Amino acid sequence: MNYLSIKDIDSLANWVAEAKDLKNNPRRFESIGKCKTICLLFFNNSLRTRLSTQKAAINLGMDVMVMNFGNEGWALEYEDGTIMNQGTSEHIKEAAQVVSQYADIIAIRAFAGLKDKEKDEAEEVLNGFVKYAGVPIVNMESSIGHPLQALADAITIAEYKTKTRPKVVLSWAPHPKALPHAVANSFVEMMQLQDADFVITHPKGYELNSKITRNSTIEYDQSKALQNADFVYVKNWSSYNDYGKVMHENSGWMMTKEKLGHAKFMHCLPVRRNVVVEDGVLDSNQSLIIEQANNRTYAAQLVIKKILENE
Ligand code: CP
Repeated sequence: MNYLSIKDIDSLANWVAEAKDLKNNPRRFESIGKCKTICLLFFNNSLRTRLSTQKAAINLGMDVMVMNFGNEGWALEYEDGTIMNQGTSEHIKEAAQVVSQYADIIAIRAFAGLKDKEKDEAEEVLNGFVKYAGVPIVNMESSIGHPLQALADAITIAEYKTKTRPKVVLSWAPHPKALPHAVANSFVEMMQLQDADFVITHPKGYELNSKITRNSTIEYDQSKALQNADFVYVKNWSSYNDYGKVMHENSGWMMTKEKLGHAKFMHCLPVRRNVVVEDGVLDSNQSLIIEQANNRTYAAQLVIKKILENE
């Protein structure tokens, strides 16, 4: 079993219930991972994913190895048949098989480069490990998705919702840098599995991949979208159609207390204060950001436990 995307969740309701049970007693399965090793490979920076996934594995009794592959590993080659006389030093074929000599599970973070859509969508790092490693693979955020974050978000919504079918709004936010689509993509896919009145709002030109948004409601008027919201998930992403571009500043899309109304505020973090969202929201009791970060542990723990049970 791999956990590569939201599509790997067979029953969201069961997964959320099981994650909540783990949260109530995190050490209940502390012998399930005894004598097993998980290797976390980071091609990009992290705070939450790195620590919560380690904690999850430790809660299950596993040994954990972490490598900042992007800075410390050999530059990898992904193309078949390449004459490797340029910048790459090691082929993914060897690298993935080698890591799997040391690890029972490999978890990988490798962001989109946002320069070449086709290359990003091929997910050569994640899929290279899936193809050659021979052990289960967990996606800790790839070009296209961040399914551990979305699972933590689903757990958080389940904990805080006060009605069966809450209104959930994914609201684009301004950001000075071009950011990937992974968090937004997985959140959209997760919402499509939920009983929720789900609305995506963003300025024109920031449409996500229509193969992911499918028939989700898109409302270009932010204030209209936010009306009667129960949860507002704020996230920046760069243009998908004009791939990787920051099109215009749109500072008016920052989330404020006034816009939020009575809704709960969500963000995956890290967040740029007073650019993406104002201090008053983050510091209010409507903010669920720390609860989301806490639930990253139980999302990862559930995924790793399911993989261990499946082996
Ligand atoms: N939300 C999230 O994935 O945080 P990190 O990038 O710090 O891991």
